[in-house]
Amino acid sequence: MSNRPIGVFDSGLGGLTAVKQLHSLMPCEDIIYFGDTGRVPYGNRSVETIKRYAAQDARFLLSHNVKMVIAACGTVSSTASNELNEMLNVPYINVIAPTAAAAAQATKNGKIGVIGTRATILSSAYKKALEKTDPSLKIFQRECPLFVPLVEEGFISPEDPIARLTVERYLKEFKDNGVDTIILGCTHYPILKPVIGEYVGMDVVLIDSGKETAKCAAAVLTENCLLNDHERSGECKFFVSDRTEGFSNIASIFLNSNIGENVSRVDIQKY
Ligand code: DGL
Repeated sequence: MSNRPIGVFDSGLGGLTAVKQLHSLMPCEDIIYFGDTGRVPYGNRSVETIKRYAAQDARFLLSHNVKMVIAACGTVSSTASNELNEMLNVPYINVIAPTAAAAAQATKNGKIGVIGTRATILSSAYKKALEKTDPSLKIFQRECPLFVPLVEEGFISPEDPIARLTVERYLKEFKDNGVDTIILGCTHYPILKPVIGEYVGMDVVLIDSGKETAKCAAAVLTENCLLNDHERSGECKFFVSDRTEGFSNIASIFLNSNIGENVSRVDIQKY
């Protein structure tokens, strides 16, 4: 048993989709969330920069005595996981393995699409994880850099022509090739599920990395006897590296609930 908080970080606020899933699976757990809003996006940056930022983010969480570090960010998970694994002295969870396992289990025809940021797709981390599970799987990969700004601008409705056209442009190849499962390999993409689902068809399974990662975190905490014994609802503390004004507006897109301005600013360069 451990009453220390779970640490979650992301390049920005998209990782709150994972916090939402963690809270619904383990409602009594306390969570420390760090969103690197001063340096987001990570998805177009070099591997060296992503690794350096990820190490600082993780060290910030360790300074809060977390019992586990979760990289909710697809870009960090696919690029910096070896380094994070080596540096951390608490369990480290990233989105790749649990999400790939769920996709391999869901597909019926063996054709899986993977979407993510440029860095995630360039790393081929999902492709490698899927092929390790089953070498006969056929993997289609596509970077979708416009999806992050679409979500942050709130262009997320299936009725929105800009959202529909962007989804069609990126996912046409998946549709033409009969992909039956798609990994939403970036924090922001679950918010576009309704638009993506309408375009690819409701029989295509959309795998949400935040949800699968939360399930994996719950399993690891249980196996290691690290769940807390609180009977109250868990508390979430939010930290960002840039302005805190307007945090609740964007956070509510990802959390689907209003958390107010309960957020503090951190100088992440110090970590
Ligand atoms: N959080 C990032 C991810 O999941 C998306 C935003 C960014 O590019 O930093 O890959």
